[in-house]
Amino acid sequence: MGEIKKETTKGSQLIKKGEVILAPMAGYTHSAFRRFCRRLGADRTYTELISAPGFVHRGIPKKYAYFTEEEKPIHVQLFGRTPEEIAQAAVIVAQELKPDAVDINFGCSVPKVLKTGAAGKLMETPKIMGEVVRQTVEALKPYNIPVTAKIRLGLDEDRLEEIAEQLIEGGVSAIALHPRLGVVGYAGEPDWKRIRDLKKISPVPVIGSGGVKNWRDIDRMMEETECDAVMVGRAALSNPWIFKEYKLKKDLKVSLKERLKAVYEILQMMFEYYPSPEKACFEIRSILVQFLKGFTQSREIKSYLMTVKGCEEFINRLLELIEKFS
Ligand SMILES: Cc1cc2nc3c(=O)[nH]c(=O)nc-3n(C[C@H](O)[C@H](O)[C@H](O)COP(=O)(O)O)c2cc1C
Repeated sequence: MGEIKKETTKGSQLIKKGEVILAPMAGYTHSAFRRFCRRLGADRTYTELISAPGFVHRGIPKKYAYFTEEEKPIHVQLFGRTPEEIAQAAVIVAQELKPDAVDINFGCSVPKVLKTGAAGKLMETPKIMGEVVRQTVEALKPYNIPVTAKIRLGLDEDRLEEIAEQLIEGGVSAIALHPRLGVVGYAGEPDWKRIRDLKKISPVPVIGSGGVKNWRDIDRMMEETECDAVMVGRAALSNPWIFKEYKLKKDLKVSLKERLKAVYEILQMMFEYYPSPEKACFEIRSILVQFLKGFTQSREIKSYLMTVKGCEEFINRLLELIEKFS
């Protein structure tokens, strides 16, 4: 890869060296969970991927796009098929939500999304990825909002260098890399060497994503890859305390009581933006399951909380369990 543009000051102003970031995870990392992780020390958050054409045709999807000051710095993540639709959605995001950055998802490779030609499918055409970034950067200039990208190595072949070159020439301010091919999903180990390779050629900050299992791995990824920042994904779902553990540099064996209290705290925040309390009580169950992972009482607690008739009973049982466990 030849000489590419000098580092934009925006990129390094946006992401500070050593940041630990909550990864976007569809179905989990909505406002309440992001706030909870920020309170525990996550330095930055992302919304889950939101459909750009959906934004343009149906307006802001409250559940996915809602965020508060506490979640900032926050990137609103968009995915789509064409530079035009993504740039158009980004303008709506800039005008109505004013996030710290707009992130473009080029990594999602689930068949449902690939079939539409969006997100991960664009990794087959790096030039179009560059064009998506260029048009989005241009559209967001009046709002002074930078554009970042989240990528994999490629869809079914590793094209990292070509992809990076296009994104950088398009004016991206930071790149998050999950170093697996799209077609493998989550199989095998992410290839951290490729994060290091990207870091060597990228004038903009590089965020490493993939394979962090505990707080020690955060330091290990920074040392082995020299990346600017580390994203924590699945490890933060069952252990959001990983952010605090990293700051304190020690394991925190968070008790069952604390975990159930955390579920209650997150649920209270979900009531603000969920269409109904019933829906919030239903959806908190995915977070509950994650928080109980590895505890012998997990099965018993889950069946007690999941056989309730409504939200009021769910909350009463949750409070009862919080009292019961020490
Ligand atoms: C349930 C789930 C949902 C995800 N949703 C998104 C998403 O909306 N946008 C995105 O860029 N990546 C998404 N990812 C990928 C993660 O951000 C991350 O790159 C990946 O899980 C690897 O990191 P990890 O090993 O720390 O989990 C998702 C991953 C999981 C497990």
